[in-house]
Amino acid sequence: MCGIVGAVAQRNVVPILLEGLQRLEYRGYDSAGLVVIQDGQLQRERSTGRVADLRLKTTDTHGTLGIAHTRWATHGVPSERNAHPHLSNNLIGVVHNGIIENYESLRNRLSAAGYVFTSDTDTEVIVHLIHSHYKNGTCLLDATRASLTELIGAYALGVIALDNPDQLICARRGSPLLMGVGVGEHFIASDVSALLPVTNRVIYLEEGDVAEINRDSYRIFDVSGTELTRPVQVSKISNESVSLGNYRHYMQKEIHEQPQAIADTLESVCNSTSIIPGVFGAEAAAVFSDINSILILACGTSYHAGLVARYWLEEIAGIPCTVEIASEYRYRTSVPNPKALVVVLSQSGETADTQAALNFAMSMGHIHTLAICNVAESALVRLAKLRFLTRAGPEIGVASTKAFTTQLVALFLLTLVLAKQRGRLTEEKERQHLHDLRHLPAASQKVLDMEPLIAKLAEQFANKQHALFLGRGMHYPIALEGALKLKEISYIHAEAYPAGELKHGPLALVDKDMPVISVAPNDVLLEKLKSNLHEVRARGGELFVFADAGTHICEEDGVHIIQMPEHAGYLSPILHTIPLQLLAYYVALQKGTDVDKPRNLAKSVTVE
Ligand code: AGP
Repeated sequence: MCGIVGAVAQRNVVPILLEGLQRLEYRGYDSAGLVVIQDGQLQRERSTGRVADLRLKTTDTHGTLGIAHTRWATHGVPSERNAHPHLSNNLIGVVHNGIIENYESLRNRLSAAGYVFTSDTDTEVIVHLIHSHYKNGTCLLDATRASLTELIGAYALGVIALDNPDQLICARRGSPLLMGVGVGEHFIASDVSALLPVTNRVIYLEEGDVAEINRDSYRIFDVSGTELTRPVQVSKISNESVSLGNYRHYMQKEIHEQPQAIADTLESVCNSTSIIPGVFGAEAAAVFSDINSILILACGTSYHAGLVARYWLEEIAGIPCTVEIASEYRYRTSVPNPKALVVVLSQSGETADTQAALNFAMSMGHIHTLAICNVAESALVRLAKLRFLTRAGPEIGVASTKAFTTQLVALFLLTLVLAKQRGRLTEEKERQHLHDLRHLPAASQKVLDMEPLIAKLAEQFANKQHALFLGRGMHYPIALEGALKLKEISYIHAEAYPAGELKHGPLALVDKDMPVISVAPNDVLLEKLKSNLHEVRARGGELFVFADAGTHICEEDGVHIIQMPEHAGYLSPILHTIPLQLLAYYVALQKGTDVDKPRNLAKSVTVE
């Protein structure tokens, strides 16, 4: 979602702002803009195209103080007039990520006071509000702080004033923002990847923080105006880990990074023959011994990971588990169980709905909380009592891939810990599960070797309008994930069903134009699945079956078998995910879509 970059330096900051915006492109956006102080005026450029278009417009733009933005439209269509930065009276410039909920009343009040609005955005009220305080002689920091007290909603902000050419003000509440510390220069950004070319020394701002940043110094304050000290951290994210290398797209790179990401996530258990609760945090043993059920909250792909985990947790650990879409849970009147472990799953740790769901659970009396997340400094990680960090590394492609498979690894570890604690894991079984986990990187590499085969297969989907994905048991969520990947990046309408549900409705859709993709592991439900596949074939549906060895499903006219290298038992959902990711990727290539930045989507959904 919206990306912010800002800089105050001795050198021209325009190239820094543009490079930063380019690095935030993955978050999703529909327009971009920047403003700098140049020749005694606020020089603003905006564009509805890509950052590359903005770059073309700014060849003559320069300045030592500036803020820049990629916008993902919420209030007002994607257009140049709605793109940020927004200005007030050619004196104040603001970039904003988040949503101001009381913008209508503020807009009415400011209009009545004579402010002329030139956009349809909620953000424009912020810039005029700051101006209304600033024009009375209040300093920029205090004018911003006074304005913040009037805002209801979420924001990350960058603010500059024409007559204050060495100062940048920033603030955050509900949307991510960090500061970059350089030598004689300072920066702000929505995430660290934007700043890696200039610094890896960062300060993660906390909720409610407001900062006054100059070239050589900065001061951070909390909501009440008390000055704070926040630690400067050296980011472990390397410039290399966010560069594309020889891959054509980040999604392709990230699919291929899965063996390493899984191995890294397993680091805590790589040399052991047993697993301990401590991998989920120092307090985990005490928390786990006090729980009697699991409640998983997540969105999108992370929700699918939760659905797989329910099968593991109930079957292996014998603990009741429910999985809820975070955006629904937060508004549902549910019955809290204080003995439940609330597990929030998120790649980014910034998803607004998942954060709100966790806050809501806590407000209802849930005290046992665990975040499984890929971003150490994220809001969710800070909020939850226990945490497990997946080690997928930065995920840039909007379509989540390695974050999903590493979440599954983390959830399997959780299952083992709880199974052990509940006396349901013999030493021998524990050793076997750990052995299977350690084999996963090699097993997933073998699946990746199927890439040329799947690239060829994808040609058959390029002209399809719809697709149906089938799975059973713990592979049903994998069918859901396969369908989500396909629709996200190829824009083909795809639906997923548990195969046994076909005859209760969706079978009516099946004809020769409806490809049916089935996940066919060699498990206890195989024979049932085969019957469901016959039902499809009998209606003329063309089948594409990702089958484990030993399934004895035969290739015939209208039935394409894609042989999986091996069956991984409980871990099979992880391996079966990979060919579906590749399929979606290659279908998208066939269709020529913008794979890493699919239309209308954002990587971090930081608004509701
Ligand atoms: C996945 O491909 C999606 N882009 C999306 O569903 C994503 O998983 C969802 O927005 C949740 O994000 P999170 O894991 O960062 O919370």
